[in-house]
Amino acid sequence: MTARGAAAREPARSEPIGAPPFAVVSGAQVQDALQGREKQIVELVEATYRLHGAGASVNPPSYFLRFPDRPTARIIALPASIGGQARVDGLKWISSFPENVAAGIPRASAVLILNDHDTGYPFACLEGSIISATRTAASAALAADWLSRDRGRPTRIGFFGAGLIARYIHTYLAGTGWSFDEIGVHDLSADSAAGFCGHLERSGASGRITVRDSAEQLLRSSDLVVFATVAGQPHVSDLSWFQHHPLVLHVSLRDLAPEILLASANIVDDVEHCLQADTSPHLAEQRTGNRDFLDGTLDDVMAGRVTVPTDRTLVFSPFGLGVLDLAVGKYVYDEVVRSGGLRVVDDFFSELRRYG
Ligand SMILES: NC(=O)c1ccc[n+]([C@@H]2O[C@H](COP(=O)([O-])OP(=O)(O)OC[C@H]3O[C@@H](n4cnc5c(N)ncnc54)[C@H](O)[C@@H]3O)[C@@H](O)[C@H]2O)c1
Repeated sequence: MTARGAAAREPARSEPIGAPPFAVVSGAQVQDALQGREKQIVELVEATYRLHGAGASVNPPSYFLRFPDRPTARIIALPASIGGQARVDGLKWISSFPENVAAGIPRASAVLILNDHDTGYPFACLEGSIISATRTAASAALAADWLSRDRGRPTRIGFFGAGLIARYIHTYLAGTGWSFDEIGVHDLSADSAAGFCGHLERSGASGRITVRDSAEQLLRSSDLVVFATVAGQPHVSDLSWFQHHPLVLHVSLRDLAPEILLASANIVDDVEHCLQADTSPHLAEQRTGNRDFLDGTLDDVMAGRVTVPTDRTLVFSPFGLGVLDLAVGKYVYDEVVRSGGLRVVDDFFSELRRYG
């Protein structure tokens, strides 16, 4: 009797227990799940940093796929595993094509895959660019809060780079109780600066909004500085611009010359992650041959292990951790399930019997 014949005579079996259904979650569903949830998401990001700091996560180095024929473009893979209540594994796969902006579509596009803790099966593919921007903005708002607790909340904010990430960061600051007397905007593209200012006005942002033509003007007139450019190498190197010791959210990671970091206090999200891929902290390490310029991580600050100085420029450089994408992605997934809107692809896994 052939194996095929034996299998054919077996009674029909139900599918193995535990192969989860596979769902696709659209960007519109992601937006619905996150709308108006700034406080919850900042709390979730804080809890995730604490889990990561306590070692309840696996977050290997991001993998950068680059292309000789498209030097400004890249696609990054961020695999991660998170413990705690979320208990989920997964991968963010995010493209950055800066030339997209001129063509009228966003620079970044992404999917986020969630994998089941017990079986390893992928159980959801979510639109990832909104989740990525959201966790980035929530991390920035969290850092702005913790790092200004001793020095007092800045009331003059300046945005270097006026794209989608700048918009999300402003939304997250405003959504978690920040208001400003002055909002400065500096972008190499006048259209981007005008577009962002238009958004700020429509959103009812507090404070006077001013476009600054020069980088120096923006820096000198801001106590909270947000870098969200696409600069590939440092373009700010004049120490005298930092005499007023601002708090700097260095989200785009490659704007500041090493000498600025070496003259500042430095907080990162994860030391090993941040000191790679030619970020400014990586350049500072290469320049000095050591990591002495780093004061610690945001988790160190939140846990009270590190106290940040109030009389020096303070730079937060977040590499961006896959565990944050996972945590926010799982939150979105759970919200979509709760709302009854989960769209399952019924026959996504169709080879579930070992011998057919
Ligand atoms: N650290 C993280 O976790 C994290 C996460 C997401 C995005 N990012 C980074 O945030 C940055 C911004 O992303 P985005 O989606 O808003 O990009 P975007 O293309 O929408 O906007 C970037 C803006 O920066 C401007 N710009 C470029 N060089 C400049 C300079 N030297 N001075 C002033 N403005 C300049 C561009 O004209 C553009 O308007 C990217 O570098 C991205 O990699 C970081």
